[in-house]
Amino acid sequence: MNDLAGKHLLLGLSGGIACYKSAELTRLLIQAGATVQVVMTDAAQRFITPVTMQALSGRTVYTSQWDPRIASHMAHIDLARVADTFLIAPASADCIAKLAQGRADDLLTALCLARDCPLLIAPAMNRQMWRHPATQRNMAQLRADGVTVLGPASGPQACGETGEGRLLEPGALCNAVAAFFQPKVLQDKRVLLTAGPTFEPLDPIRGITNRSSGKMGFALARAAAEAGAQVQLIAGPVALPTPDGVSRIDVQTGQQMYEAVMACINACDIACDIFIAVAAVSDWRAEPVSAEKIKKNGERVAPRFAFTENPDILAAVTRLPKPPFCVGFAAECNDLETRGREKRLLKNVPLLVGNIGPDTFGKDENELTLFDASGVKHLPRADKLTLARTLVEEISKRL
Ligand code: C5P
Repeated sequence: MNDLAGKHLLLGLSGGIACYKSAELTRLLIQAGATVQVVMTDAAQRFITPVTMQALSGRTVYTSQWDPRIASHMAHIDLARVADTFLIAPASADCIAKLAQGRADDLLTALCLARDCPLLIAPAMNRQMWRHPATQRNMAQLRADGVTVLGPASGPQACGETGEGRLLEPGALCNAVAAFFQPKVLQDKRVLLTAGPTFEPLDPIRGITNRSSGKMGFALARAAAEAGAQVQLIAGPVALPTPDGVSRIDVQTGQQMYEAVMACINACDIACDIFIAVAAVSDWRAEPVSAEKIKKNGERVAPRFAFTENPDILAAVTRLPKPPFCVGFAAECNDLETRGREKRLLKNVPLLVGNIGPDTFGKDENELTLFDASGVKHLPRADKLTLARTLVEEISKRL
């Protein structure tokens, strides 16, 4: 994904053992299409060398406001003016304290004052230092000043203690920077999504499922979170990581998915602004489910199952007295245009998204056709995150 194509980032490193993660972060930011200008404090250079950061960023690393290589001798101005955003990772307790006070006694802090681009900081320190009232006071000040805070994460720390204060992992930081640049078209909206297949047991060992991988639904959950929404994802059985900032409930069967969706919607009567039903829910479930493993019998007679219809989750949500804005999906094999139009009316949704199932199941790419009251819109083949971001924008325009 060229998520950061054309973006020029200032990456500041202050002193902390987490500086080793900044090397990997630099690689990921560059792989995502950004150019990265690294600036390091004296303390950061005790943990990782400018040589490493220069080799990875492909640019001279600046460490001092007195650097004679900048023609104007004003590194703090020149470097700041060309940046789209300034990320400090790791941001130490000392660095945070200086920023909160507006001090500018080294290049990194002077750049923070002189910048005219947004500032993102990723704190990293021992859990006691993080919890200290002075650090929390400084963090509150930085948030009030409009600084975006990424993390920290919780877990085992380099000092041997466990708690809050770990630098976010490089992948999460890179995703957070990409998310920062996404337009906030769903700011503070509550989005509920279903994703993945369902699994309907036949006996304790076997069951009926389908080929939905959950990738499209998970990409949509990520795109909605990037757009500023609070996202609740109800996932069928898939082995996908939860997108950052998304709350997830795992279920197996269609009935469980229905109950989880209704519980979320009923949690409070304004619990959901948008419902996106991406899951491929089994229309039928075996009932009764055999309590024992179904064995081959001597006569080789095929087993027979009785099926009961699963609740239609999307239909149940659209029937609510005050339904959220509902988006349905249709996975077809052919005749998408006709079936999509029909299904939108049948499902009674303002927006239905059609795709050709066998062309996309398990793949990272898809091709979507949007059906609404005004007609049909085609989103050409692209990776699922790109499509998800476009779809989120299309949804926001229709709210
Ligand atoms: O009728 P069909 O299953 O093709 O409809 C697909 C749409 O309906 C999807 O949005 C899917 O998530 C939703 N659906 C549902 N509950 C079901 C079956 C489908 O929410 N039991």
